[in-house]
Amino acid sequence: MRDYELTSATLAAALADPALESMNFLNEIASRYPGAISFASGRPTEEFFDVAEIHRYIDIYCEYLRRERGYDDAMVRRELFQYGRTKGLIHELIARHLDRDEGIRADPEALVVTVGCQEAMFITLRALRATDRDVLLAVSPVYVGLTGAARLVDLPIWPVRSGKDGIDFDHLAAQIAKARAQGRRARACYLMPDFANPSGTSLTIGQRRELLEVAAEQDILLLEDNPYGLFHDGEHMPTLKALDRGRSVIYLGSLAKTGFPGLRVGYVLADQRVLGRGLLADELSKIKSMVTVNTSAVAQAVAGGKLLRHGCSLRAANHRETATYLRNMRSLLAGLEDRFTGSAVTWNRPCGGFFAVVTTPFPADDAALEHSAHEHGVLWMPMRHFCTENAGDRQLRLACSQLSAEQIETGVDRFAAFVTSYGPTACS
Ligand SMILES: Cc1ncc(COP(=O)(O)O)c(C=O)c1O
Repeated sequence: MRDYELTSATLAAALADPALESMNFLNEIASRYPGAISFASGRPTEEFFDVAEIHRYIDIYCEYLRRERGYDDAMVRRELFQYGRTKGLIHELIARHLDRDEGIRADPEALVVTVGCQEAMFITLRALRATDRDVLLAVSPVYVGLTGAARLVDLPIWPVRSGKDGIDFDHLAAQIAKARAQGRRARACYLMPDFANPSGTSLTIGQRRELLEVAAEQDILLLEDNPYGLFHDGEHMPTLKALDRGRSVIYLGSLAKTGFPGLRVGYVLADQRVLGRGLLADELSKIKSMVTVNTSAVAQAVAGGKLLRHGCSLRAANHRETATYLRNMRSLLAGLEDRFTGSAVTWNRPCGGFFAVVTTPFPADDAALEHSAHEHGVLWMPMRHFCTENAGDRQLRLACSQLSAEQIETGVDRFAAFVTSYGPTACS
């Protein structure tokens, strides 16, 4: 008997898309060079991981169910062990966090607690993609998880240039006009106003207000993704959602960095009204019910306990982590300053978040990365992986969140050695 064989032509076209390979590419190269210092991965610091805390958080959550919600023991057990509410169990605690940390007044009923922010992106894009005339605008370079999710629901992404300042408004207007001229519809624009992944840039308050005006005038939604916004050096800009008076903003949240990635808990705040139906969140929950049924009750109990332990402030819960990230960013930027000032290499200077971007005088592509890993033991992320259009060839992303100060120092030395030896060969 012959083995059953498939061809990629008989599978979803998105599976051949490079966006769906990017995460594997990074894991693969990291596993081939285990001794390399990695500026490639934007994982959170492991300095404060503590298994005992997981048990404590579950206890705190169960105690809250008994005290604040009046549950008896059987109800507590059922909440943890059974299938649960599709829109989630900790929506009220997340609403308290949004109020405390972001000044967002969220109706808990407008929240869907998801399996990471990744599921929030997927179900939101699935709902917004109504016809093949729809396109999604996204400030470019774009987070690969968003690109992959859009591909999987057959929603084309049209990039909006970020320019130097985080968003190029002329290009945004041009892309919306181009969509109209082609009889297509720009459904929404995806962006990260705070410490964007991968660009590290943040929008000014003026840009945020202008963007909300454009969204209202042009009748498009804004998809605000905000996993890094709380890791700042004191000056905190209001999120788009906090400024949103016309329900133009769908807010995507992740607890991967403010909680921990192993939780796989995120959420979407979708308070838009759907005529004759109810809230957009309720439509999203129908999709969720057919994808993951509900988010793990155990994971939500841990997340809920962490929120309760810190008065529902994830900013307070993360003061040690924030100090580590700010220290790391300062070390990275100082290291680049020491080695590259006056050279053809330039970089941006984010005042928070996980990422900085370096511009090189040579193509910073996969071949350059391979050389950097093999010859110099240092990894970084080619910007090309975040660009849906032909751009980003001479840029790379450095993530400093998971490293120690010593590793950053050694890593920047290695990175400088790579640039010095590889640059002239690549340019000649
Ligand atoms: C910008 C951005 N959005 C969403 C996510 C996904 O978050 P989660 O792990 O909660 O699915 C990430 C993860 O790195 C991210 O960087």
